[in-house]
Amino acid sequence: MTFTWEYDRAHDDLLRLYRLGKERQWNAETRIDWAHEVDPDNPLGMPDEFIWIAGTPLWDGLDAKERSTVRVHTAGWLYSQFLHGEQAALMCAAKIVQTVPDLDAKFYAATQVMDEARHTEAYQRFLNTKIGVTYPISDALGALLATIATDPRWDITALGMQVLVEGLALASFSIQRDRMRDPLARAFNAYVLQDEARHVAFGRVALRRFYAELTEAELREREQFAIEACWALRDRFVGEEMWRRLDLGAEECIRLSRRSPAMREFRRRLFSRIVPTLRDINLFGPSMQAAFEQMGVLGFSRLDIGAVGDEDERAAAEFDRRRAEVSGFIDRGAQPPEESP
Ligand SMILES: [Fe+2]
Ligand SMILES: [Fe+2]
Repeated sequence: MTFTWEYDRAHDDLLRLYRLGKERQWNAETRIDWAHEVDPDNPLGMPDEFIWIAGTPLWDGLDAKERSTVRVHTAGWLYSQFLHGEQAALMCAAKIVQTVPDLDAKFYAATQVMDEARHTEAYQRFLNTKIGVTYPISDALGALLATIATDPRWDITALGMQVLVEGLALASFSIQRDRMRDPLARAFNAYVLQDEARHVAFGRVALRRFYAELTEAELREREQFAIEACWALRDRFVGEEMWRRLDLGAEECIRLSRRSPAMREFRRRLFSRIVPTLRDINLFGPSMQAAFEQMGVLGFSRLDIGAVGDEDERAAAEFDRRRAEVSGFIDRGAQPPEESP
């Protein structure tokens, strides 16, 4: 635990994120239309192209009931992992409050603690009342979160959580927001995403400053951690536990999942954020670049991720638009309409 007794050493960028965190709190109980009823056979309104085994002879051979089981379990597996990830984010944000040296960073992280509590509350409610199938944490996610949550160095927690796991969250939740057909799933993920954009911004701001002062050896150690995490994020989130439970030939399902078009879209969304962010915070030495080359994602390093503020301004405009929209639904007692992507 790191105390600070310096109260006047503030960074404007962190104070700005703290201010945004205070202003953009929302109440998951009232903001979301929980009365909306989902399709019990496809609670997310998931298009079949997001079922990892769709378009294969195996999928073509399933009857309607078996397909609906796969749809519900895919939703249950995914949202269970989101829920476990959110709880871990809650604990990591609380840990950063304790371990980060500067007071302004502690302030910011305190707002993130509240954000992650709200996300955990909301995903749990969505999972239990709308999907109804739950899964324990996957081995891959559990192993990654254990390292991130227990390492005593605040920056490893921030790198693991705010850059890598929240990068995973942005990729996954943006697919939910943009590509699912159920309006509740879309609206709900849109709200969560606005908070996540702020969390990733904190990772960039705080780590870029901190990593500018580390030695080469210290930076290479962080890169090694990031490389291992990236391999896990790339290859190990394909529903292994679900395929073992469903008994459709687990190994074949896992193999098909890894090379599915849905997984390619997920990887594109994931690495188009993570790769330029790692370059931006100065974790982009030869071994990092070689690993990205091997993963086939080095090209994303040329993407311009923009200033930290840009992302937040876009998120703010979106937030206001959706708030007005949802207030409208509450006033009219109506269901949210289908949103445009
Ligand atoms: Fe979150
Ligand atoms: Fe977050």
